[in-house]
Amino acid sequence: MIYGKIYYKGRVVEAGVEVEDGIIKKVGKEVKGKEVRGLILPAAIDVHVHFRDFNEKHKETIETGSLSALYGGVCLVVDQPNTNPVVDCYEVYDRRMKMAKKSSYVDYTLNLALTNKNAKNIGEIVKKIEKKYYLPAIGEVFTQHENDELQITYKTLKELSVSKLLTIHAEDPRFVGKGSPNFKYRLPKAEIEAVKKCLQIGKYHFCHISTIKALQMISKSNSTCEITPHHFLLSEDDFKRLDGLINVNPPLRSKDEVEKLLKNVGLAEVIASDHAPHTIEEKLNGSSGFPGVETLYPLILGLIVKNVLNLNTIEKLTKNPAKIFGFERYGDIEVGNYANLAIFDLKKVEKIDVEKLHSKANWTPYEGFDAVFPEKVFIRGVEALNTEVLVDKGFGKILECV
Ligand code: DOR
Ligand code: ZN
Ligand code: ZN
Repeated sequence: MIYGKIYYKGRVVEAGVEVEDGIIKKVGKEVKGKEVRGLILPAAIDVHVHFRDFNEKHKETIETGSLSALYGGVCLVVDQPNTNPVVDCYEVYDRRMKMAKKSSYVDYTLNLALTNKNAKNIGEIVKKIEKKYYLPAIGEVFTQHENDELQITYKTLKELSVSKLLTIHAEDPRFVGKGSPNFKYRLPKAEIEAVKKCLQIGKYHFCHISTIKALQMISKSNSTCEITPHHFLLSEDDFKRLDGLINVNPPLRSKDEVEKLLKNVGLAEVIASDHAPHTIEEKLNGSSGFPGVETLYPLILGLIVKNVLNLNTIEKLTKNPAKIFGFERYGDIEVGNYANLAIFDLKKVEKIDVEKLHSKANWTPYEGFDAVFPEKVFIRGVEALNTEVLVDKGFGKILECV
Protein backbone atom coordinates (compact mmCIF):
# COMPACT_ATOMS: atom_id res chain seq x y z
CA MET A 1 0.00 0.00 0.00
CA ILE A 2 2.64 2.54 1.04
CA TYR A 3 6.39 2.70 1.37
CA GLY A 4 8.58 5.06 3.37
CA LYS A 5 10.12 5.79 6.76
CA ILE A 6 8.04 3.92 9.24
CA TYR A 7 7.95 3.45 13.02
CA TYR A 8 8.24 -0.31 13.34
CA LYS A 9 9.10 -2.33 16.46
CA GLY A 10 10.24 0.79 18.30
CA ARG A 11 12.57 2.08 15.58
CA VAL A 12 12.37 4.05 12.34
CA VAL A 13 13.06 1.81 9.34
CA GLU A 14 12.50 2.11 5.62
CA ALA A 15 9.84 -0.35 4.58
CA GLY A 16 6.60 -0.95 2.77
CA VAL A 17 3.27 -1.85 4.35
CA GLU A 18 1.01 -4.35 2.63
CA VAL A 19 -2.65 -4.19 3.57
CA GLU A 20 -5.53 -6.52 2.84
CA ASP A 21 -9.10 -5.84 4.00
CA GLY A 22 -7.83 -3.10 6.30
CA ILE A 23 -5.38 -5.43 8.08
CA ILE A 24 -1.59 -5.23 7.82
CA LYS A 25 -0.38 -8.33 5.96
CA LYS A 26 3.30 -7.63 5.66
CA VAL A 27 5.88 -5.02 6.67
CA GLY A 28 9.28 -5.11 5.03
CA LYS A 29 11.84 -3.58 2.72
CA GLU A 30 10.77 -5.89 -0.10
CA VAL A 31 7.13 -4.77 0.12
CA LYS A 32 6.34 -2.36 -2.73
CA GLY A 33 3.98 0.57 -2.37
CA LYS A 34 3.32 4.21 -3.13
CA GLU A 35 6.26 6.13 -1.72
CA VAL A 36 5.28 8.67 0.94
CA ARG A 37 7.26 11.60 2.24
CA GLY A 38 7.32 12.13 5.99
CA LEU A 39 7.18 9.65 8.81
CA ILE A 40 4.61 6.87 8.99
CA LEU A 41 3.46 6.44 12.58
CA PRO A 42 0.66 4.42 14.14
CA ALA A 43 -2.48 6.58 14.44
CA ALA A 44 -3.28 7.51 18.04
CA ILE A 45 -5.78 6.17 20.56
CA ASP A 46 -7.19 8.82 22.90
CA VAL A 47 -8.51 6.92 25.92
CA HIS A 48 -10.10 9.95 27.55
CA VAL A 49 -12.53 12.20 25.69
CA HIS A 50 -15.85 13.77 26.63
CA PHE A 51 -17.87 14.09 23.42
CA ARG A 52 -21.04 15.22 25.29
CA ASP A 53 -23.89 15.07 22.74
CA PHE A 54 -27.29 13.96 24.19
CA ASN A 55 -28.58 17.06 26.03
CA GLU A 56 -25.27 18.94 25.71
CA LYS A 57 -24.98 19.19 21.94
CA HIS A 58 -24.12 22.86 22.26
CA LYS A 59 -20.74 21.87 23.81
CA GLU A 60 -19.80 19.06 21.42
CA THR A 61 -21.31 16.11 19.58
CA ILE A 62 -19.86 12.73 18.70
CA GLU A 63 -19.76 14.04 15.12
CA THR A 64 -17.77 17.20 15.85
CA GLY A 65 -15.56 15.60 18.50
CA SER A 66 -14.63 12.68 16.25
CA LEU A 67 -13.97 15.00 13.31
CA SER A 68 -11.59 16.93 15.56
CA ALA A 69 -9.97 13.60 16.54
CA LEU A 70 -9.41 12.63 12.90
CA TYR A 71 -7.73 15.95 12.11
CA GLY A 72 -5.39 15.24 15.03
CA GLY A 73 -4.33 11.77 13.84
CA VAL A 74 -6.51 9.86 16.32
CA CYS A 75 -8.10 6.64 15.01
CA LEU A 76 -9.89 5.44 18.16
CA VAL A 77 -11.43 7.30 21.08
CA VAL A 78 -12.73 6.18 24.46
CA ASP A 79 -15.66 8.40 25.34
CA GLN A 80 -16.57 9.08 28.98
CA PRO A 81 -20.04 8.49 30.37
CA ASN A 82 -20.57 11.63 32.51
CA THR A 83 -23.00 12.84 29.89
CA ASN A 84 -26.51 14.20 30.34
CA PRO A 85 -28.13 11.69 30.79
CA VAL A 86 -25.32 9.69 32.42
CA VAL A 87 -24.36 6.40 30.74
CA ASP A 88 -25.15 4.29 33.80
CA CYS A 89 -27.18 1.42 32.34
CA TYR A 90 -27.43 -0.83 29.30
CA GLU A 91 -30.20 1.18 27.61
CA VAL A 92 -28.28 4.48 27.58
CA TYR A 93 -25.05 2.70 26.62
CA ASP A 94 -26.79 1.03 23.68
CA ARG A 95 -28.46 4.27 22.59
CA ARG A 96 -25.16 6.15 22.60
CA MET A 97 -23.31 3.42 20.70
CA LYS A 98 -26.03 3.47 18.04
CA MET A 99 -25.63 7.25 17.76
CA ALA A 100 -21.87 6.84 17.43
CA LYS A 101 -22.30 4.25 14.71
CA LYS A 102 -24.14 6.84 12.63
CA SER A 103 -22.06 9.88 13.46
CA SER A 104 -18.46 9.06 14.37
CA TYR A 105 -15.61 9.77 11.93
CA VAL A 106 -13.18 7.61 13.90
CA ASP A 107 -13.46 4.30 15.71
CA TYR A 108 -15.38 4.72 18.89
CA THR A 109 -15.86 3.05 22.24
CA LEU A 110 -17.43 4.11 25.50
CA ASN A 111 -16.88 3.58 29.21
CA LEU A 112 -19.69 2.81 31.66
CA ALA A 113 -20.36 5.14 34.60
CA LEU A 114 -20.27 4.00 38.20
CA THR A 115 -22.86 5.87 40.26
CA ASN A 116 -24.25 5.55 43.75
CA LYS A 117 -27.41 4.21 42.14
CA ASN A 118 -25.94 1.49 39.93
CA ALA A 119 -23.04 0.36 42.19
CA LYS A 120 -25.02 -2.61 43.56
CA ASN A 121 -25.79 -4.13 40.17
CA ILE A 122 -22.83 -2.85 38.12
CA GLY A 123 -21.73 -6.45 37.50
CA GLU A 124 -25.00 -7.29 35.77
CA ILE A 125 -24.88 -4.13 33.66
CA VAL A 126 -21.34 -4.96 32.56
CA LYS A 127 -22.40 -8.48 31.64
CA LYS A 128 -25.31 -7.25 29.52
CA ILE A 129 -23.20 -4.65 27.71
CA GLU A 130 -20.48 -7.20 27.04
CA LYS A 131 -22.91 -9.49 25.25
CA LYS A 132 -23.01 -6.92 22.46
CA TYR A 133 -20.15 -4.45 22.84
CA TYR A 134 -16.51 -4.32 23.78
CA LEU A 135 -16.52 -2.42 27.08
CA PRO A 136 -13.09 -0.83 27.77
CA ALA A 137 -13.62 0.12 31.42
CA ILE A 138 -15.87 1.41 34.16
CA GLY A 139 -15.02 5.07 34.53
CA GLU A 140 -14.07 7.68 34.85
CA VAL A 141 -15.04 7.04 38.45
CA PHE A 142 -15.01 10.27 40.43
CA THR A 143 -13.80 10.24 44.03
CA GLN A 144 -14.87 13.89 44.07
CA HIS A 145 -17.74 15.41 42.10
CA GLU A 146 -20.24 18.19 42.66
CA ASN A 147 -22.95 15.77 41.52
CA ASP A 148 -23.56 13.51 44.54
CA GLU A 149 -24.58 10.61 42.36
CA LEU A 150 -21.19 10.55 40.63
CA GLN A 151 -19.03 11.00 43.75
CA ILE A 152 -17.96 7.53 44.85
CA THR A 153 -16.56 6.78 48.31
CA TYR A 154 -13.54 4.57 49.02
CA LYS A 155 -15.97 2.27 50.84
CA THR A 156 -17.97 1.76 47.65
CA LEU A 157 -14.75 1.02 45.75
CA LYS A 158 -13.78 -1.53 48.40
CA GLU A 159 -17.14 -3.27 48.31
CA LEU A 160 -17.38 -3.38 44.55
CA SER A 161 -17.25 -6.89 43.19
CA VAL A 162 -16.75 -6.66 39.46
CA SER A 163 -13.83 -7.90 37.43
CA LYS A 164 -13.47 -4.95 35.11
CA LEU A 165 -10.82 -2.28 34.79
CA LEU A 166 -11.78 0.94 36.62
CA THR A 167 -10.43 4.31 35.55
CA ILE A 168 -10.31 6.78 38.41
CA HIS A 169 -10.47 10.56 38.66
CA ALA A 170 -8.61 10.77 41.94
CA GLU A 171 -9.19 13.87 44.02
CA ASP A 172 -10.10 13.64 47.69
CA PRO A 173 -13.14 15.82 48.51
CA ARG A 174 -11.60 16.73 51.88
CA PHE A 175 -9.00 18.87 50.08
CA VAL A 176 -11.24 20.31 47.36
CA GLY A 177 -12.80 23.72 47.93
CA LYS A 178 -15.06 25.80 45.73
CA GLY A 179 -13.84 28.88 43.87
CA SER A 180 -12.15 30.22 40.79
CA PRO A 181 -9.39 30.01 39.65
CA ASN A 182 -9.73 26.47 40.91
CA PHE A 183 -5.98 25.81 41.36
CA LYS A 184 -6.26 27.88 44.54
CA TYR A 185 -8.91 25.57 45.98
CA ARG A 186 -8.16 22.08 44.67
CA LEU A 187 -4.84 21.23 46.24
CA PRO A 188 -2.16 18.79 45.02
CA LYS A 189 -2.80 17.02 48.31
CA ALA A 190 -6.31 16.16 47.09
CA GLU A 191 -4.86 14.06 44.29
CA ILE A 192 -2.03 12.56 46.32
CA GLU A 193 -4.32 11.45 49.16
CA ALA A 194 -6.93 9.99 46.82
CA VAL A 195 -4.32 8.04 44.86
CA LYS A 196 -2.78 6.76 48.11
CA LYS A 197 -6.16 5.52 49.33
CA CYS A 198 -7.08 3.89 46.02
CA LEU A 199 -3.73 2.10 45.78
CA GLN A 200 -4.50 0.49 49.14
CA ILE A 201 -7.80 -0.79 47.76
CA GLY A 202 -6.97 -2.19 44.34
CA LYS A 203 -5.41 -2.01 40.89
CA TYR A 204 -6.71 0.82 38.74
CA HIS A 205 -5.99 3.01 35.77
CA PHE A 206 -5.70 6.58 37.06
CA CYS A 207 -6.88 9.43 34.83
CA HIS A 208 -4.97 12.70 34.27
CA ILE A 209 -2.32 12.54 36.99
CA SER A 210 -1.08 16.05 37.76
CA THR A 211 1.43 15.71 40.61
CA ILE A 212 4.88 14.16 40.63
CA LYS A 213 4.18 12.43 43.96
CA ALA A 214 1.10 10.61 42.66
CA LEU A 215 2.91 9.73 39.43
CA GLN A 216 5.78 8.18 41.38
CA MET A 217 3.47 6.25 43.71
CA ILE A 218 1.52 4.77 40.80
CA SER A 219 4.66 3.89 38.86
CA LYS A 220 5.81 1.79 41.82
CA SER A 221 2.48 -0.03 42.04
CA ASN A 222 0.68 -2.48 39.77
CA SER A 223 -1.75 0.27 38.70
CA THR A 224 -1.31 2.37 35.56
CA CYS A 225 -2.00 6.00 34.76
CA GLU A 226 -2.36 8.60 32.10
CA ILE A 227 -1.04 12.13 32.00
CA THR A 228 -2.38 14.99 29.88
CA PRO A 229 -0.47 17.59 27.84
CA HIS A 230 -2.11 20.39 29.81
CA HIS A 231 -0.70 19.08 33.09
CA PHE A 232 2.88 18.91 31.81
CA LEU A 233 2.83 21.99 29.54
CA LEU A 234 0.62 24.55 31.29
CA SER A 235 0.84 25.93 34.81
CA GLU A 236 -0.71 28.40 37.22
CA ASP A 237 1.55 30.95 35.50
CA ASP A 238 -0.80 30.73 32.50
CA PHE A 239 -3.48 32.40 34.60
CA LYS A 240 -3.09 35.78 32.88
CA ARG A 241 -2.90 34.32 29.38
CA LEU A 242 -5.87 31.98 29.83
CA ASP A 243 -7.71 34.49 31.95
CA GLY A 244 -11.17 33.16 32.86
CA LEU A 245 -10.67 29.94 30.90
CA ILE A 246 -8.09 28.35 33.20
CA ASN A 247 -10.28 25.94 35.18
CA VAL A 248 -9.71 22.24 34.65
CA ASN A 249 -10.02 19.32 37.07
CA PRO A 250 -7.52 18.43 38.40
CA PRO A 251 -6.29 22.01 38.11
CA LEU A 252 -3.09 23.31 36.57
CA ARG A 253 -0.22 23.17 39.03
CA SER A 254 2.80 25.34 39.91
CA LYS A 255 5.52 25.88 37.32
CA ASP A 256 7.90 23.79 39.42
CA GLU A 257 5.50 20.82 39.54
CA VAL A 258 4.85 21.08 35.79
CA GLU A 259 8.57 21.04 34.97
CA LYS A 260 9.01 17.92 37.09
CA LEU A 261 6.07 16.24 35.36
CA LEU A 262 7.48 17.00 31.92
CA LYS A 263 10.81 15.47 32.94
CA ASN A 264 9.00 12.38 34.20
CA VAL A 265 6.42 11.80 31.47
CA GLY A 266 8.20 8.46 31.00
CA LEU A 267 6.66 7.20 34.25
CA ALA A 268 3.10 7.37 32.86
CA GLU A 269 2.03 4.52 30.59
CA VAL A 270 -0.46 6.65 28.66
CA ILE A 271 -0.86 10.20 27.41
CA ALA A 272 -4.51 11.19 26.85
CA SER A 273 -6.24 14.50 26.22
CA ASP A 274 -9.21 14.51 28.66
CA HIS A 275 -10.90 16.48 25.86
CA ALA A 276 -13.57 18.32 27.89
CA PRO A 277 -15.27 20.98 25.78
CA HIS A 278 -17.47 23.78 27.16
CA THR A 279 -18.60 26.95 25.43
CA ILE A 280 -16.53 30.06 26.13
CA GLU A 281 -19.48 31.53 27.99
CA GLU A 282 -19.68 28.45 30.24
CA LYS A 283 -15.93 28.61 30.79
CA LEU A 284 -16.19 32.23 31.86
CA ASN A 285 -18.81 31.12 34.37
CA GLY A 286 -16.31 28.69 35.89
CA SER A 287 -16.79 25.38 34.00
CA SER A 288 -13.77 23.08 34.17
CA GLY A 289 -12.20 21.36 31.19
CA PHE A 290 -10.02 21.91 28.13
CA PRO A 291 -10.59 20.70 24.58
CA GLY A 292 -7.57 18.70 23.37
CA VAL A 293 -8.26 15.64 21.21
CA GLU A 294 -7.06 17.38 18.04
CA THR A 295 -3.88 18.83 19.56
CA LEU A 296 -2.82 15.72 21.54
CA TYR A 297 -0.62 13.98 18.96
CA PRO A 298 0.52 17.23 17.24
CA LEU A 299 1.78 18.69 20.55
CA ILE A 300 3.67 15.52 21.44
CA LEU A 301 5.32 15.54 18.00
CA GLY A 302 6.15 19.23 18.45
CA LEU A 303 8.04 18.23 21.62
CA ILE A 304 9.69 15.26 19.90
CA VAL A 305 11.00 17.54 17.13
CA LYS A 306 12.58 19.76 19.80
CA ASN A 307 14.08 16.71 21.54
CA VAL A 308 12.12 17.46 24.70
CA LEU A 309 10.59 14.00 24.39
CA ASN A 310 11.96 11.01 22.52
CA LEU A 311 10.19 9.34 19.62
CA ASN A 312 9.23 6.27 21.67
CA THR A 313 6.88 8.54 23.63
CA ILE A 314 4.35 7.94 20.85
CA GLU A 315 3.82 4.46 22.33
CA LYS A 316 1.92 6.18 25.14
CA LEU A 317 -0.71 7.15 22.55
CA THR A 318 -0.67 3.91 20.58
CA LYS A 319 0.76 0.64 21.86
CA ASN A 320 0.29 1.18 25.61
CA PRO A 321 -3.38 2.21 25.62
CA ALA A 322 -4.18 -0.72 23.30
CA LYS A 323 -2.52 -3.07 25.76
CA ILE A 324 -4.02 -1.62 28.95
CA PHE A 325 -7.58 -1.44 27.57
CA GLY A 326 -7.34 -4.61 25.48
CA PHE A 327 -7.97 -3.09 22.06
CA GLU A 328 -7.11 -5.97 19.78
CA ARG A 329 -5.69 -5.05 16.35
CA TYR A 330 -5.02 -1.46 17.51
CA GLY A 331 -1.79 0.16 18.66
CA ASP A 332 1.35 -0.84 16.81
CA ILE A 333 2.03 -0.97 13.12
CA GLU A 334 2.30 -4.75 13.10
CA VAL A 335 1.21 -7.70 11.01
CA GLY A 336 -2.34 -8.67 11.98
CA ASN A 337 -3.26 -5.20 13.24
CA TYR A 338 -5.52 -2.70 11.51
CA ALA A 339 -3.68 -0.39 9.13
CA ASN A 340 -4.22 2.65 11.34
CA LEU A 341 -1.52 5.02 10.20
CA ALA A 342 -0.82 8.72 10.54
CA ILE A 343 1.77 10.38 8.34
CA PHE A 344 3.58 13.43 9.62
CA ASP A 345 6.14 15.72 8.03
CA LEU A 346 8.30 16.52 11.04
CA LYS A 347 9.80 19.48 9.17
CA LYS A 348 6.39 21.13 9.13
CA VAL A 349 6.15 22.52 12.63
CA GLU A 350 3.29 25.00 12.85
CA LYS A 351 1.73 27.18 15.50
CA ILE A 352 -1.60 25.98 16.87
CA ASP A 353 -4.36 28.29 15.66
CA VAL A 354 -7.90 27.91 16.97
CA GLU A 355 -9.29 28.92 13.57
CA LYS A 356 -7.94 25.68 12.13
CA LEU A 357 -9.37 23.36 14.80
CA HIS A 358 -12.69 21.51 14.58
CA SER A 359 -14.11 21.12 18.09
CA LYS A 360 -17.26 23.05 18.92
CA ALA A 361 -15.40 24.46 21.91
CA ASN A 362 -13.92 27.07 19.59
CA TRP A 363 -10.97 27.84 21.81
CA THR A 364 -7.73 26.14 22.79
CA PRO A 365 -5.39 26.60 25.74
CA TYR A 366 -2.48 25.96 23.32
CA GLU A 367 -2.82 28.92 20.94
CA GLY A 368 0.61 29.59 19.38
CA PHE A 369 2.19 26.33 20.64
CA ASP A 370 4.42 24.39 18.24
CA ALA A 371 2.76 21.32 16.76
CA VAL A 372 2.96 18.89 13.86
CA PHE A 373 -0.42 17.94 12.39
CA PRO A 374 -0.88 14.82 10.23
CA GLU A 375 -0.74 15.11 6.46
CA LYS A 376 -2.62 11.86 6.03
CA VAL A 377 -4.50 9.43 8.23
CA PHE A 378 -5.45 5.87 7.30
CA ILE A 379 -8.05 4.06 9.37
CA ARG A 380 -8.34 0.32 8.76
CA GLY A 381 -6.50 0.86 5.47
CA VAL A 382 -8.83 3.59 4.20
CA GLU A 383 -7.40 7.04 3.53
CA ALA A 384 -9.65 9.00 5.90
CA LEU A 385 -7.73 12.27 5.80
CA ASN A 386 -5.44 13.86 3.25
CA THR A 387 -5.20 17.44 4.50
CA GLU A 388 -9.01 17.35 4.25
CA VAL A 389 -11.40 14.65 5.43
CA LEU A 390 -12.16 12.00 2.79
CA VAL A 391 -14.75 9.90 4.64
CA ASP A 392 -18.29 10.59 5.78
CA LYS A 393 -19.59 10.67 9.32
CA GLY A 394 -20.42 7.13 10.40
CA PHE A 395 -17.19 5.83 8.86
CA GLY A 396 -15.90 5.13 12.36
CA LYS A 397 -16.45 1.63 13.67
CA ILE A 398 -17.95 1.09 17.10
CA LEU A 399 -16.22 -1.57 19.15
CA GLU A 400 -18.47 -4.58 19.46
CA CYS A 401 -17.68 -7.86 21.12
CA VAL A 402 -16.09 -10.44 18.90
O1 DOR B 1 -11.97 19.37 33.92
C1 DOR B 1 -12.68 18.40 33.84
N1 DOR B 1 -13.73 18.37 33.02
N2 DOR B 1 -12.41 17.34 34.59
C2 DOR B 1 -13.24 16.29 34.68
O2 DOR B 1 -12.93 15.35 35.36
C3 DOR B 1 -14.53 16.30 33.96
C4 DOR B 1 -14.42 17.15 32.77
C5 DOR B 1 -15.74 17.44 32.13
O3 DOR B 1 -16.51 16.49 31.90
O4 DOR B 1 -16.01 18.60 31.83
ZN1 ZN C 1 -11.46 13.65 35.31
ZN1 ZN D 1 -12.49 13.33 32.13
